[in-house]
Amino acid sequence: MSKNAQGQKVIVLDFGAQYGQLIARRVRDLHVYSEILPCDAPAEEIAAANPSAIILSGGPASVYAEDAPSVDPAVFELGLPVLGFCYGQQIMAKTLGGMVGHTEKGEYGAATIERVATSRLLDGTPGEQTVWMSHRDAVAKVPEGFVITSSTDICPVASMECAERNLYATQFHPEVRHTRYGTQILSNFLFGICGLEPTWSMDNLIDTLVQDVREKVGDKRVILGLSGGVDSSVVAALCARAIGKQLTCVFVNHGLLRKDEPEQVEEIFTKLFDVDFVHVHAEERYARLLAGITEPEEKRRIIGTQFWNEFFAVAQDLAEDGRPVQFMAQGTIYPDIIESGARKTGGKASTIKSHHNLIPFPEGVHFDLIEPLDHFFKDEVRALGTALGLPEYLVWRQPFPGPGLAIRIIGSVTPEKLEILKNADAIVREELDAYNAKLFAETGERNSERSVWQYFAVLPDIKSVGVMGDERTYQRPIILRAVESSDAMTADWAKLPYEVLAKISGRIVAEVPGANRVCYDITSKPPATIEWE
Ligand code: XMP
Repeated sequence: MSKNAQGQKVIVLDFGAQYGQLIARRVRDLHVYSEILPCDAPAEEIAAANPSAIILSGGPASVYAEDAPSVDPAVFELGLPVLGFCYGQQIMAKTLGGMVGHTEKGEYGAATIERVATSRLLDGTPGEQTVWMSHRDAVAKVPEGFVITSSTDICPVASMECAERNLYATQFHPEVRHTRYGTQILSNFLFGICGLEPTWSMDNLIDTLVQDVREKVGDKRVILGLSGGVDSSVVAALCARAIGKQLTCVFVNHGLLRKDEPEQVEEIFTKLFDVDFVHVHAEERYARLLAGITEPEEKRRIIGTQFWNEFFAVAQDLAEDGRPVQFMAQGTIYPDIIESGARKTGGKASTIKSHHNLIPFPEGVHFDLIEPLDHFFKDEVRALGTALGLPEYLVWRQPFPGPGLAIRIIGSVTPEKLEILKNADAIVREELDAYNAKLFAETGERNSERSVWQYFAVLPDIKSVGVMGDERTYQRPIILRAVESSDAMTADWAKLPYEVLAKISGRIVAEVPGANRVCYDITSKPPATIEWE
């Protein structure tokens, strides 16, 4: 990515921590641009990116493990300020001639550090303060020229620094909210030590991203899959701004969208953007392919693969029309990447679900990818959407999975089940949209503590007995899923008021033919995921 308008950028080297991107995020929250690189990026590559400072993330390994991730020692010779957290502190110590050992018990959770020397990094924070620790190994001997600046009962080197060379490190995690003065510590580094200015903003980001898309695309054509969700819409808006009519937006209608949604998508993207819009009616082809398929990953695979086939067909039409497509833009965001196994970050997260966006192209199909949002969390993407002038209702639309209702119908997808689910889901959304709107009016906060972040209906592959009027029924239950979250990486089930639950249940059973029971899923993520498949 090119540099932002002010030319100030902090690079986070990721040692496989799921917190790696969170560090970049905290830096951006302080209005300094930040992005992430794999920990083994050579010093020349880092220097070429022209950063103002480097942060070394934590990571799960022990520095003495056989395949322990390491850092190019030349990184410390670039003359840039470097800050390390947890594993980042240990690798800094080991690389520069210090020693790392095991602590007896390890240290997990809140701990109290005590300042033992003056410290530029801890400047302006109390002598005793609460921090978040998560480690077994710890620095036993600091490298030459370093001083220990704080300790805990268990960990003699809770932080260290060599102010002369602008090298700083903490055993604790300042990026985690539980570290009481974490933001102050990070600010000390960015503004006090590195002398950066808090001038970066979403508007800079738009300029940067638009510029990047233009540079990458040149005079070529781009194709983009529109789902009507926030992510692909934000990418569409960005690309529309960057390259206008060189962009073709393709809406593959797989027949698995929510009630009335295909019509809404078409309306939004023909009225809002000055781009080519192609509505592919693939409903019947999908229905045939999915008939009898019950295994979740198989469903995802079929839907993902067919998505590319449909895309390829449009791209081929464009090529035959004398407008060949070289690029495909996608709304992949950061959580998609870590949940599908880390890709660019060098991290080592394991595959949980194969996300639609990341399924590989079928043989013979090739597009170069443009994924402008792959560094960002959902709430950052929403802020970007707002700054791009997208309407509120679109920016705040809840996430919806690429494979659509197919992964909310347990077992095989049939027209009858789809109909039941669409009708039940419409009621869930209507009621919880109203609930959220009421909370928003009361609190002025979009994602207040009580509001629901994502909500939908799930149709299990069972039937149960009920009684309606004097008649026995043998019909389907509906499962209500409603969660609180901010980025989909973790989620808690929403503690909805009983009146709201009662209204949803009453309406579904009364208004949805084929449904006679409603259950509420009260599981958090982890251990469950938000979707059922
Ligand atoms: P899980 O079920 O993994 O979902 O906890 C996390 C978030 O991702 C959404 N989701 C998807 N989004 N393609 C997408 O674009 C997918 O295949 C997909 N699967 C899950 C899910 O709705 C939740 O917000």
